[in-house]
Amino acid sequence: RSFLILNGPNLNLLGTRQPEIYGHTTLSDVEDMCRAHAEKIGVTVTCSQSNHEGALVDEIQNARGRHDGIILNAGAYTHTSIALMDAIKGTEAQLVELHLSNIHAREAFRHQSYISPVAVGLICGFGAHGYILAMDALQRHLEKSL
Ligand code: DQA
Repeated sequence: RSFLILNGPNLNLLGTRQPEIYGHTTLSDVEDMCRAHAEKIGVTVTCSQSNHEGALVDEIQNARGRHDGIILNAGAYTHTSIALMDAIKGTEAQLVELHLSNIHAREAFRHQSYISPVAVGLICGFGAHGYILAMDALQRHLEKSL
């Protein structure tokens, strides 16, 4: 099985960006963690990050036929992007929505997500460990739906 781990805008600044909210772990630490966990659970992962909405749409479109599942932290585009929602609808890959912070415990504008309606499920509030939880959840979901 193959998973795409896709991070959106400002997540390249992880570790230094508002560490009181997002923690001190850097994006490359997160990606290393994911690769190590992938080996443990017997999947392959591709990690990617972009600050650009259209580039994220391209990644999701290209995942079709290449990846069985996607873990997406769309950052602020979560709350604004119909384009990402439509791209997810158009791919057959199963997608887990991920946020480091608990978006429902924050400002009202973060409570709405265009990703949730097209996701298998949502993990938020567990910091960088959420990526590991998402990988396990996706793996189990794909096993069940076989
Ligand atoms: C985030 C939450 C979003 O509201 C925010 O815009 C981000 C990060 C998270 O991981 O907690 O950039 O997706």
